[in-house]
Amino acid sequence: DGFTGLTIFTKGYTYTYDDIIFHPGHIDFAAHDVNLKTQLTKGISLSVPVVSSPMDTVTGAEMAAAMALQGGMGFIHYNCTVEEQAAMVRQAKRYVPCTGSAFEPLVLSADATLGQVEDECEGLGLSAGKYPTVLVTETGELGGKLLGLVTTSDVDMLAGKSTAEVKLGEVMTKAGDLVTVSATEGEEAVRAKLASSKKGRLPVVGEDGALVGVVERGLLKDQLFKYPTPMGTATVNKEGKLCIGCAVGTRENDKVRLEALVKEGVDAVILDSSQGDSVYQMEMIKYIKKSFPDLQVIAGNVVTSRQAERLIGVGADGLRVGMGSGSICTTQEVCAVGRGQATAVYHTSKLAAEHGVPVIADGGIQNSGHITKALALGASTVMCGSMFAGTAEAPGRYMMTEDGVRVKLYRGMGSLDAMKKGSSTRYLGESQRIQIAQGVSGTVKDKGSVRNLIPFFAQAVKQGFQDFGAKDVKMAHGMLGDGSLRMETRSGAAQHEGGIHDMHSYTKKRW
Ligand code: XMP
Repeated sequence: DGFTGLTIFTKGYTYTYDDIIFHPGHIDFAAHDVNLKTQLTKGISLSVPVVSSPMDTVTGAEMAAAMALQGGMGFIHYNCTVEEQAAMVRQAKRYVPCTGSAFEPLVLSADATLGQVEDECEGLGLSAGKYPTVLVTETGELGGKLLGLVTTSDVDMLAGKSTAEVKLGEVMTKAGDLVTVSATEGEEAVRAKLASSKKGRLPVVGEDGALVGVVERGLLKDQLFKYPTPMGTATVNKEGKLCIGCAVGTRENDKVRLEALVKEGVDAVILDSSQGDSVYQMEMIKYIKKSFPDLQVIAGNVVTSRQAERLIGVGADGLRVGMGSGSICTTQEVCAVGRGQATAVYHTSKLAAEHGVPVIADGGIQNSGHITKALALGASTVMCGSMFAGTAEAPGRYMMTEDGVRVKLYRGMGSLDAMKKGSSTRYLGESQRIQIAQGVSGTVKDKGSVRNLIPFFAQAVKQGFQDFGAKDVKMAHGMLGDGSLRMETRSGAAQHEGGIHDMHSYTKKRW
């Protein structure tokens, strides 16, 4: 009954997500038992298998932080100067993983004096003599090992003495006596700690004791009403900071860009090209692996196993798959190359799995069913542009159309609009003079916050996995490989039947 992926995808047709449908299996576990944890690259794992596109109407600092806070990851676009992109990484890295609040504490070294604190307070516009919470680290900066904390109560009783020369190390409450929060702790656990300790602020530390930030009782109280989504699955790196990705090109001056981004702590880069199987990309992968061994490199885009093999061969840590499947793409029309996205994901993932390299199914995701299909066909994550364009976290302002719809701009990075701003390297050859657009520019509707969208998608994907009987992404890949995941292609009429039909009117609320 039904067919295997191998049968379906080797018949000479190219298919996309809507062309195929999976057969249900046997249910013997609850949907909440499905674990969506997955690999983005060889070295980065995510708790939610979704990332946002490096496009200038999708991912800036706010989106990158929001995606990582929700357990996915965002890739900051590079249609801007090196300084602007580096500043976006810096800004995104400021968010404290376990609460999502961007609060920068005052951090000094143990040798700093109370006099220096006074000076800093003056600089921050705080009244003299009123001490903020001061965190003391080995380096005197955020990211250094936490040594202690100084609050008003540590310095109150020194009043009257000449305090300017007193060192923070003499008066601080030492790290061992402090209640701290781990960067990977969920919001609920943080709230419980704030309640039981009765403290107003708790330092947040990474695995190695490095200071990541501070959680504040006041901020969290406000947030309860603003963002009811439970967190605790944030994507963080070894230092306990949010994982942030960036797109870069493959030209000589992109090496300068890379260096600036690495300085800001970027965790993964995407070599951004619509046709990634090039000598330029292979050279860049080798350069990055040699110069920045800790940086994860995602190569692409590719749609065939031959392309995939070449990029994996020189060290790609992840592959981005898709050509012309995006909602704003015209590559297939303009250049006559590409592949149906389901077929592309199936074949590239099959090859990549043999080398232990995860695949990102990029473009063409229109609903949660497409995410489930991409994962079941071998991808480890999906990348979305239009799905996240129009959210509160996407760059740009909302506009009101004439008929009263709130919209935001969404444009292809190969659209003339975007290329005018400088993104031509993705879509133009090295020395091209005439600009040929490979994308369109337009608007999408207001979608609210990704804080609401992502939990909805995650739950819907879990239900899909439960229906065909896979408890996690690895198991789904196993079922695809051994042929126990059965599927069929859908005729036009079957696709029509699978959608909403024969209704006079209806409302389409998703949750
Ligand atoms: P969705 O369907 O999620 O697709 O909106 C986003 C993906 O589309 C790619 N992209 C483009 N492809 N011309 C193209 O052919 C373009 O102008 C363009 N801009 C973005 C990109 O892979 C993105 O992640």
